[in-house]
Amino acid sequence: MLSVKHLLGIKELTVTDIEQIFKTADNFKQVLQRQIKKVPTLRDTTVANIFFENSTRTRLSFELAEKRLGADVVNFSASGSSVSKGETLIDTVNNILAMKVDMVVMRHSASGAPWFLAQHIDASIINAGDGTNEHPTQALLDAYSIREKLGSLKGKRVTIIGDIMHSRVALSNIFCLLKLGAEVTVSGPPTLIPKHVASLGVKVEYNVKKALENCDVANVLRIQLERQHKPLFSTLREYSLYYGVNRQMLDSLKKEIIIMHPGPINRGVELNSDVADSKQSIILDQVENGVAIRMAVIYLLSGKREVE
Ligand code: CP
Repeated sequence: MLSVKHLLGIKELTVTDIEQIFKTADNFKQVLQRQIKKVPTLRDTTVANIFFENSTRTRLSFELAEKRLGADVVNFSASGSSVSKGETLIDTVNNILAMKVDMVVMRHSASGAPWFLAQHIDASIINAGDGTNEHPTQALLDAYSIREKLGSLKGKRVTIIGDIMHSRVALSNIFCLLKLGAEVTVSGPPTLIPKHVASLGVKVEYNVKKALENCDVANVLRIQLERQHKPLFSTLREYSLYYGVNRQMLDSLKKEIIIMHPGPINRGVELNSDVADSKQSIILDQVENGVAIRMAVIYLLSGKREVE
């Protein structure tokens, strides 16, 4: 069982929690290889996926994880709902819970929204990404994918490249990787790297080529233009030229590194197709592992629910 009732952020998890999630995900990964990819473990549980912001991977991955565990699933999107009529977040969620929902998976554009909700409702909440703050299941599946490839995170050098400033994936990855003993470097344009990020325990290297030379894994992030309220670099072409990861760069390195990306990819901007689709890339392994990780999180939190 986990030490927490909700999965709000990686910050609140212990190393034991993370290791337990990985061990449980190992078991679920085996289930997912079978012809019948389902277990009836959560057949008495109803999960609501409430998404106030767009998503492809996270939303589908949670829904599949819930269905693979035998749970009943309801999906809610802010667009087309009564949110447009002025209904508050708490009213929306309480109305969904009144229909006897046990667990809520929520994505919201406001940083902190899941913590706010956790103070007002009884059901377990899983944060599926809140604003520029945290995206805990993404960080768990990223770390799990590195562990799968390299055996362990301890002492491994992971560079996170790109829009660190607006990325909830970056923050959750930093918390998760450091907890598991990896060395983390962030790289990208100075305008997209928060000034005090080093205080989290990471190195900062503005030169992407140098950052790549000193890592085992590069996790390349999307430029989040929708969160940039004023221009933070001149043009996408310039960004790609100075900070984009391309084949030539990788071929000039002394060793073959692992390439990751949480998706969606801006091809030709932060990552070229000849890298994204190469054998060094584990981008689709990340997506595959996401289902097992989310099954593990839901399963472990549902145990917490039963004893409380
Ligand atoms: N990685 C990720 O969060 O992707 P989506 O926005 O498509 O869910």
